[in-house]
Amino acid sequence: MSNGVAALNAPLVGAAGSRARLETPSLLLDATAFEKNVSVLAEMAAVRGMGLRPHAKTHKCAAIAKAQLEAGALGIACAKPGELLALFEAGVNPLMLTAPVASRLKIDRLAAAAARGADIAVVVDRAQLIADYAASARAASATISILVDCDTGLGRTGVTTPAEAVALARMIEAEEGVTYAGVQAYAGNVQHVLGFEERRAANRVANERLQAIVTALKAADLAPGIITGGGTGSHMLDFEDQVLTEVQAGSYVFMDEGYRPVDLHGAGEEVFRFALFVAVTVIAHSANGEAITDGGTKSFAIDGPPPRAFLDGVEIGTIAWAGDEFGRLKTHDGHAPPPAGARLECTVPHCDPTANLYDVVHLVRDDVLEAIWPIEGRGLSD
Ligand SMILES: Cc1ncc(COP(=O)(O)O)c(C=O)c1O
Repeated sequence: MSNGVAALNAPLVGAAGSRARLETPSLLLDATAFEKNVSVLAEMAAVRGMGLRPHAKTHKCAAIAKAQLEAGALGIACAKPGELLALFEAGVNPLMLTAPVASRLKIDRLAAAAARGADIAVVVDRAQLIADYAASARAASATISILVDCDTGLGRTGVTTPAEAVALARMIEAEEGVTYAGVQAYAGNVQHVLGFEERRAANRVANERLQAIVTALKAADLAPGIITGGGTGSHMLDFEDQVLTEVQAGSYVFMDEGYRPVDLHGAGEEVFRFALFVAVTVIAHSANGEAITDGGTKSFAIDGPPPRAFLDGVEIGTIAWAGDEFGRLKTHDGHAPPPAGARLECTVPHCDPTANLYDVVHLVRDDVLEAIWPIEGRGLSD
């Protein structure tokens, strides 16, 4: 740890009252809420006989991935090779890369990790990528599992027709060095549909498209062992539809303001708790008396609704952006701007890109800093 606040906070680990004394801006993980989120989703999946492969794009942190694996996850999903390799080096396995790549050098790196014991699955959307993975795997004397990436409405990556999926699955089966593992279809277009019934209808469209692909694969004697996809927004609907064999939820572990208005189970109740916060400090007051904090757009990803700010556990306002390094506290009625030095804990607009801004996350339990965990994949969006 260098000149960052983590070095200043390290001596506080285990000290009574240390949560309120953390130097800021710092990323906080509330241990109780985090552990509850991990166990709640694991139990829901187990009850319905579904697997979980939580997505590490949300947290990029080996300690969190290991907690998810300990709770029964089949493996960990990753968005980028760099993120995947960082987690492998930190002891996380098995790993699935959920996006196609277009770089032989990156594929060679994955194959080299596979030769060193990484249990890697990847997705493909075209024939050339199968050939590339197979060639790299053979050169490294490794084996890589491959899934066919399918687009069921997101309009991003993946094949759209059953015929294309069957053709790619057949090519994977025919190649040496790779094994055919199944299909992926991530319905990202569905996850943030606010209303439960609207989301259920949209997810059903996606799952019906996926079912048509699965049926064609079965008819071609290419039954997919793994049918992976889904996220925090669709997890309950995917459990209901039973087309997927496993769900790749990511944000559930932290939660953010983007997901807050999404009625996850249709009962209007909170399913996952807010576990991720950015702690900031009031460093000044503006000419009209607003509290100015030390956390701006370099401390929060701002692609979501504004953070809510808590003082001693009480929500006192929201944060507006006052620059790269500054936030402006907009107090709720009845709350005065706190004095300089006051420490606020803020929810985050969007958890994944916020976690990616920090080298470490501070694990806090009640009022104590319990541990400081590295975010091994931080910045590795390559
Ligand atoms: C392929 C894939 N799977 C799973 C997820 C996790 O989704 P969520 O964070 O909504 O749970 C994402 C998020 O973007 C994703 O891209």
